[in-house]
Amino acid sequence: MTKNTNVKPADGKLGILLPGMGAVASTFIAGVLSARKGKSRPIGSLTQMGTIRIGQRSEENFPLIKDYVPLAKLEDIQFGGWDIFPDNMFEVCTKAGVLESRDIDPIKEELSSIKPMKAVFSEKYIRNIQGPNMKTGTLWEKAEALREDIRTFKKTNNCARLVMVWCGSTEAYCKPSAVHASVQTFEAGLKADSEEIAPSQIYAYAALMEGVPFANGAPNLTLDIPAFLKLSAEKGVAISGRDFKTGQTLMKTILAPGLKSRMLGVAGWYSTNILGNRDGAVLDDPANFKTKEESKLGVLDAIFQPKVYPELYENLYHKVTINYYPPRGDAKEGWDNIDIFGWMGYPMQIKVNFLCRDSILAAPLVLDLALFSDLSQRAGMSGIQEWLSFYYKAPSVSEGNVVEHDIFIQSMKLKNTLRKMMGDAPVTHTDENPEA
Ligand SMILES: NC(=O)c1ccc[n+]([C@@H]2O[C@H](COP(=O)([O-])OP(=O)(O)OC[C@H]3O[C@@H](n4cnc5c(N)ncnc54)[C@H](O)[C@@H]3O)[C@@H](O)[C@H]2O)c1
Repeated sequence: MTKNTNVKPADGKLGILLPGMGAVASTFIAGVLSARKGKSRPIGSLTQMGTIRIGQRSEENFPLIKDYVPLAKLEDIQFGGWDIFPDNMFEVCTKAGVLESRDIDPIKEELSSIKPMKAVFSEKYIRNIQGPNMKTGTLWEKAEALREDIRTFKKTNNCARLVMVWCGSTEAYCKPSAVHASVQTFEAGLKADSEEIAPSQIYAYAALMEGVPFANGAPNLTLDIPAFLKLSAEKGVAISGRDFKTGQTLMKTILAPGLKSRMLGVAGWYSTNILGNRDGAVLDDPANFKTKEESKLGVLDAIFQPKVYPELYENLYHKVTINYYPPRGDAKEGWDNIDIFGWMGYPMQIKVNFLCRDSILAAPLVLDLALFSDLSQRAGMSGIQEWLSFYYKAPSVSEGNVVEHDIFIQSMKLKNTLRKMMGDAPVTHTDENPEA
């Protein structure tokens, strides 16, 4: 089915490197291993289960995305990563409590063989956890050590290509500063042990220097600094971020475009969550929650465009809270109260109670981001991959571009990018378009 285009084939093994091997990373790895054995289905993964319409609707040509574009196969994936805790992936799965033993026992041997490398960590950026599996030295030496890890992993595992997906904890809120301005200032900052450089940025630096695409699953600043925008262009590396779009924000970006399409007003949107896993413990620190809050709050403004529709959305009161509640573990519960108004201003309410499983929703996004980042790289697409906004709560965009949060527009953009890569016409759903 794959056409002859300029996209290089996905020959050989793909190494997926994960800084942060906790609940999301271990659930992702277990799911891929289990799917490979035919013991479960990769549900929630667009690359594995999604189709794409090619040509006119009447042609009924809907190939699977994985047959349409040349993607790495699940069988060709090698896993690696870093964590401050030395537990192997079987131990992490057991402790995280996301998956049942009936699902992890059959893959125990493979999970046990995947052990985190020593991490680059700073208590300044994450205060609520401490672990022993850490690198020592100056920041520059740590960056060099990460680069060495990347090269050694590639060689030892005989990988043709690598990608990195940040699955580490949310770091304390920070803004770009002088040290982030250019590659030179960043490298000088590494040598001077600058406190303005977050650990996630050291991983990103190492990845970019080694020509490895980087996707940022946390709301951390990480990639969104001038130094890395330049470095990714210079090295021809694909990057994307931030913050996996799961749970409450996923629901928001599904519901809000629908309300807006019907020109229904929204007076308020109150969102609260309880969460009891390690992610929840980290987010219990106000500095780390601020990073998450910033990432969650932007969504509604971008979708509702209050400046364009002041009568409907100008006074929208948006509030988001996350409360750490250990008994729930990874089983998050979210409540949304949405105060809407309709014809002649009459008020109505919508209540959403989402009993979700965080890592179950995030795991397929790790897979898709890894496979699509690798695809971008082979298609010669470097810098910020805006077509991957579909996967993020706070998508990074190139300077001057406007962020798109509407999941339906994001999905259309993603699929049209795949069509373009393969030399097919975009689908625009208009009669004027002969392909529609
Ligand atoms: N699960 C979701 O739905 C979801 C959605 C959006 C974003 N995220 C983000 O994904 C990330 C992972 O979530 P999780 O539930 O797996 O959390 P987790 O706490 O289970 O795992 C994170 C792991 O990162 C490790 N870590 C922290 N700093 C590190 C460093 N500098 N180097 C290496 N390892 C480091 C921690 O030790 C921990 O094991 C979090 O940032 C979370 O906010 C998750």
